Amino acid sequence: MTGKPLGIGLLGLGTVGGAVARTFAERSRRLDSAAGRPLRLVRAAVRDTSKTRDVEVPVTGDVFEVLDDPDIGVVIEVIGGVAPAHDLLLAAFERGKHVVTANKELLAKEWNGLHETARLARRELRYEAAVAAAVPIIAAVKGLGAVRPRVLRGLLNGTTTYICSRLEQGVSFDEALAEAQSKGYAEPDPTNDVDGFDAAYKLAILVSLLEGRWFDPAQVRRTSLRSSSAAESQAALGRGTRVRYVAVADFGEKAVKCRVGPEEVDGASLEGGASGPTNVITLTSDIAGTLVWSGPGAGGLATASAILGDVVEIARTHS
Ligand code: NAP
Ligand code: HSE
Repeated sequence: MTGKPLGIGLLGLGTVGGAVARTFAERSRRLDSAAGRPLRLVRAAVRDTSKTRDVEVPVTGDVFEVLDDPDIGVVIEVIGGVAPAHDLLLAAFERGKHVVTANKELLAKEWNGLHETARLARRELRYEAAVAAAVPIIAAVKGLGAVRPRVLRGLLNGTTTYICSRLEQGVSFDEALAEAQSKGYAEPDPTNDVDGFDAAYKLAILVSLLEGRWFDPAQVRRTSLRSSSAAESQAALGRGTRVRYVAVADFGEKAVKCRVGPEEVDGASLEGGASGPTNVITLTSDIAGTLVWSGPGAGGLATASAILGDVVEIARTHS
């Protein structure tokens, strides 16, 4: 493979960062040929260097060994949360790096500042992994600038879909959440999943893209999933419905109204049939009609797919 190599640095090497590193190692030829130049994973920064990790990448406890490395052109942030991730992204742009992030909380809260910093630095800020993981919904929504959205609805959080589908099978809420955590679907703090913060951040990101201006995630009305029980879910099954954690954005004439929370949906619908970490997104609009996307919305590999897709796009468009 000819062409200038592109160095990649990872901030975070947990569920998602580890999957990115393993995918890099397993399919470097495929990635290089998609990018049209060699991609090299240079280093990963973590919080605790004493942990045993089954990845083939040099590990450091000092994030500045990633940020200050002149061989690194793209920084992937998979730490999560606002602090210290926000400062680290600003530091990456300041040093002329492109940024790829899966951090929906940070994006949803610091939307304007991050986009403006990237624009002024003339670097890319890419975040396909932040909403619906493997489903390329960010690219899709960016391509809908000409349409007037009417209603966007769906399942934007894999952990709650997983819990809902397990409750139907008689598993308790706590057990279902523990399973979702062990499968790597849940946030580092699962309160974000079960109390709806994660779905609200994702909904705010999609609405911001569709509206062309920041939508504050604090405006999303949230209802927790915590009070749902196996008995309730099984009763819904008996009625031909299913309980799912649904996100809805209603684009009225004057203002967009957003909510996330448990709802009974038709058991025969795409939402009702979703289990595991599946996300489903339906957009009704004027000239584009009804559009539907579905696929794996959580988990290390599904998220690594979106992150590495962004890295490949950067490698293709910046020599
Ligand atoms: P995780 O497993 O908890 O991993 C977090 C990583 O960040 C760990 O490697 C941790 O280091 C590192 N870290 C934490 N604080 C740090 C610091 N101050 N400096 C350096 N490294 C630090 O979390 P995750 O599930 O991979 O999620 C990461 C991000 O991806 C979040 O923004 C999440 O919302 C997003 N996301 C997750 C999924 C998913 O399915 N899990 C899907 C889409 C998006 P140690 O290993 O040393 O503790
Ligand atoms: N915790 C998130 C979820 C990860 O369950 O959907 C994917 O963003």
